[in-house]
Amino acid sequence: MLKSILVTGKNGQLGQSLQKVVIQNSELSIQHAFIFVGRDQLDLASPQSITDFFRSQRFDAIINCAAYTTVDKAESEPELADQINHLAVKQLADIAKALNSFLIHISTDYVFDGTNHRPYVETDKTNPINTYGLTKLKGEQAMQASGCAGAIIRTSWVYSEFGNNFVKTMLRLAKERDNLNVIYDQIGSPTYATDLAQVVLAVLNNEFSMLNDEDNSGEYEAVKIQNSELNIYHYANEGVCSWYDFAKAIFEISNINCQVNSIETQDYPTPAKRPFYSVMNKAKIKQQAGLVIPYWRDSLKQCLMQLEQN
Ligand SMILES: NC(=O)c1ccc[n+]([C@@H]2O[C@H](COP(=O)([O-])OP(=O)(O)OC[C@H]3O[C@@H](n4cnc5c(N)ncnc54)[C@H](OP(=O)(O)O)[C@@H]3O)[C@@H](O)[C@H]2O)c1
Repeated sequence: MLKSILVTGKNGQLGQSLQKVVIQNSELSIQHAFIFVGRDQLDLASPQSITDFFRSQRFDAIINCAAYTTVDKAESEPELADQINHLAVKQLADIAKALNSFLIHISTDYVFDGTNHRPYVETDKTNPINTYGLTKLKGEQAMQASGCAGAIIRTSWVYSEFGNNFVKTMLRLAKERDNLNVIYDQIGSPTYATDLAQVVLAVLNNEFSMLNDEDNSGEYEAVKIQNSELNIYHYANEGVCSWYDFAKAIFEISNINCQVNSIETQDYPTPAKRPFYSVMNKAKIKQQAGLVIPYWRDSLKQCLMQLEQN
């Protein structure tokens, strides 16, 4: 039976990447009915909008790609960030629990404080150091407390051919200046949103196995959802780099002649503090979803090629 899958945040990087992947894989649209919505249809800043949206419709799965993502602005808009990243996630999770829907939610490496000296595993202690990270962590915790079935995928340094991101900012700045200062003491792993979209769908298929199970009756499916666990996964592209290395790679691959100067975080003050080391260990998702994760420079090449074609 065709499964209905709601995707929020359709105009964001991940939302648009999911649409791209679904269009490219016609099999997916045969197996599932994807419904992509933006804030005009489902406004996570408004509890009433969420209630109204789900009043008369149910989905087999919900993929929440919507979020308050402006990390610096969150410092001056903590209530709005909390509403979208925490309270709305709680409401979605409660709805998922009540309606037996499977919820996939995206979280961030910024739930950690960045003081580790080895890649973070899913069970490591969280300790966000900015408002965005705190609101995202509260969203995770509310989802866990709801008892809904689903998965949380923490990711980092997301870029794509869509929306605003570091790659597009560097390409734009390189047109305006012949040298740029970029931080070299924050270390993480870039994530191409197309790769992340594929992983979201892999997790959906893996965990929400009844999606592919033709024999299940509706009643049996509901019991399965109720009994299924909520897993946290870490996902980013393979390898690590600093923002400086990331910028250098963007210009090298694109054959752009722009000098990159390495600077320290303290030389580029921002309203929100950021973790110095936010590398995540991806062993769990690799093993459970049978993934081979692309190296970050290879995925960066794909994105730059896509940008050139657009
Ligand atoms: N970007 C990163 O570097 C990064 C890193 C780690 C984790 N993540 C997480 O990954 C997920 C996807 O991020 P992304 O990069 O795709 O983010 P994005 O490009 O900023 O997209 C976020 C989406 O959320 C929507 N949104 C914001 N406020 C909303 C509201 N009140 N109601 C409904 N929708 C609303 C936005 O709508 P509009 O288009 O209308 O503004 C946008 O489509 C998020 O959960 C984010 O926290 C991102």
